Amino acid sequence: MHAPKSRTLLKILAALVAAWLALVSLPSHAEYADVVLNRRAEKEGVRPVVFPHWFHRMRFRCKVCHSELGFKMRAGANDVTMADIIDGKFCGMCHNDQIAWGAANCDLCHSGKKGLPPGIYGGSSTTGPGKW
Ligand code: HEC
Ligand code: HEC
Ligand code: HEC
Repeated sequence: MHAPKSRTLLKILAALVAAWLALVSLPSHAEYADVVLNRRAEKEGVRPVVFPHWFHRMRFRCKVCHSELGFKMRAGANDVTMADIIDGKFCGMCHNDQIAWGAANCDLCHSGKKGLPPGIYGGSSTTGPGKW
């Protein structure tokens, strides 16, 4: 009678340890930061895009963006255009006035200071590096 019970307990313990290990082994630099997208924006006359990564990661699973939407997991690696977004790709999958506010809200995405190169910025702060 005792053996099956303790085996269950062991399994639960093993699962807990595995979950904890998964948590502590996440890359910490990618935990909260904002990502600036500016491959095209400034060249085309608009401010750089500040993408609050942490804000989205709290709400969606990684695979929604990094597998289903095809965002490469590297700052500056994605070639995103406004035409794609309006077409429902990348940010436009959600920023379509249904899941989230739509593409007409230019300033909410193009909120970076001029001259901000693409990359990862900041720690756990809620405002982007170039918010104004
Ligand atoms: C709403 C969409 C979205 C979700 C959800 C999301 N990401 Fe990202 N992620 C992005 C975008 C956009 C970039 C920036 C890509 C670029 O600069 O071209 C990015 C960049 C990254 C980077 C490179 C920058 C850095 O901080 O090191 C890593 C690593 C990453 N994501 C990991 C994750 C992980 C792990 C999860 C889940 C816990 C996740 N992402 C969830 C959209 C998302
Ligand atoms: C949901 C976020 C979001 C909104 C809203 C948004 N943009 Fe963008 N936009 C982006 C991203 C991301 C890029 C790619 C940035 C890069 O890599 O340089 C981009 C790129 C651009 C570019 C560069 C050239 C091109 O056509 O791709 C222009 C110009 C632009 N946006 C104008 C606008 C204008 C004007 C509005 C409002 C009518 C707007 N954007 C609204 C996210 C957004
Ligand atoms: C998987 C869906 C999804 C994708 C993809 C996505 N977003 Fe969002 N985003 C959301 C939701 C949901 C909100 C919250 C909207 C609200 O509060 O009404 C949000 C909010 C935001 C905010 C405001 C954050 C704040 O502090 O209030 C910004 C800026 C933003 N998104 C930019 C982007 C950019 C830029 C991209 C593409 C690089 C993108 N998002 C891709 C779902 C998404």
